[in-house]
Amino acid sequence: MPSTKEQLSEKKSKRVRTLKGLILSGGKGSRLRPFTYTSAKQLVPIANKPVLFYTIEQLVECGITDIAIVVGDTADQIRAAVGDGSAFGASVEYIQQDAPLGIAHAVKIARDYMGETAFVLYLGDNFLLGGVKPFVDSFRENGANCQILLHPVKNPQAFGIAELVDGRVTRIVEKPASPPSNLAVIGVYMFDQHVFEAVERIKPSARGELEITDTIQYFIDKGLDVQAELLDRYWIDTGKMDDILEANRMVLQSLAPSNRGQVDERTRVYEPVILEKGARVVNSVLRGPLVIGEKTEIIDSYVGPFTTIDHHCRLKGVRVEGSIILENTSIEDIHWPIDRSLIGRHVTLRGGQAVGGSYSLTLGDHSEIGMPEG
Ligand code: G1P
Repeated sequence: MPSTKEQLSEKKSKRVRTLKGLILSGGKGSRLRPFTYTSAKQLVPIANKPVLFYTIEQLVECGITDIAIVVGDTADQIRAAVGDGSAFGASVEYIQQDAPLGIAHAVKIARDYMGETAFVLYLGDNFLLGGVKPFVDSFRENGANCQILLHPVKNPQAFGIAELVDGRVTRIVEKPASPPSNLAVIGVYMFDQHVFEAVERIKPSARGELEITDTIQYFIDKGLDVQAELLDRYWIDTGKMDDILEANRMVLQSLAPSNRGQVDERTRVYEPVILEKGARVVNSVLRGPLVIGEKTEIIDSYVGPFTTIDHHCRLKGVRVEGSIILENTSIEDIHWPIDRSLIGRHVTLRGGQAVGGSYSLTLGDHSEIGMPEG
């Protein structure tokens, strides 16, 4: 029987358990083509900030500064964007995953990095508004072996789904044909060192991957303590174009206005509007919420709600709303409104004379479009 002193020190060690972070940033991003032909899906920006940066910042906010990022084909781009992590106040290392063998496989190859330390696994394409701090804090304190977050979804066939009995998780199934509930296991998971035993024991699924859901099921089957919390905030798996536009809407709604650019006297501004350093607006209407990036010029244009325009763009004679326009893109004299569009980097779009209707565009990096005259 342990002495009181030992019990106290065990309790204390549970209270102060330190955590590392593991972010998954591989994958081909096939549902986000054409962007992902030229850029990693985790680098597609929401309100001018790559999805992956929110993930890193949210871990740092939880006091997690030792972070490993598992990278695949797009390793060079991820490394170039994140570096050693010092810009985020973190120390980031990279772990190469040579083939997309599953989330649990990524955990397996992170074993040396983690050692005996419990960690938060965060899928780099999951976006959570408001971060994960309360959930991570409770995991630090409750001593659970595993903690997951659940969120109701409309399409449970597309996610890992939890079955609960009396508030406890009894079963987790990956993309079930007949879902036992509508509660998806979102891409933020907390594990202690038992996870390394689990990922060694589970077998690849029908899609040839080591599944994270089977890993959690292993914990349940072993009688280990699996805690599940219902997520009370906005979450999205940003795998698809519409999801990116929706996440952009959500973030823009939560940002405070600020002006570090120039607006001439002929321009009308309806807040909330964020103008980044060196942005210039001439004879235009800005109807927020919206963000205009560094050194971007808006001339004789209307920029409507839920629009994010990245740095070094030029818009002249354009009506745009509900859209994301990436860096170094130039759009001129488009007489139809652009709505719900995602337009890539270095795109050149020149209009003709036709009027009426609207455009809904998905243009990858380096697209060039000229509209016919008349
Ligand atoms: C993965 C997991 C799934 C989880 C989802 C969350 O799905 O396998 O269990 O619900 O992330 O985003 P995938 O992105 O591989 O379809």
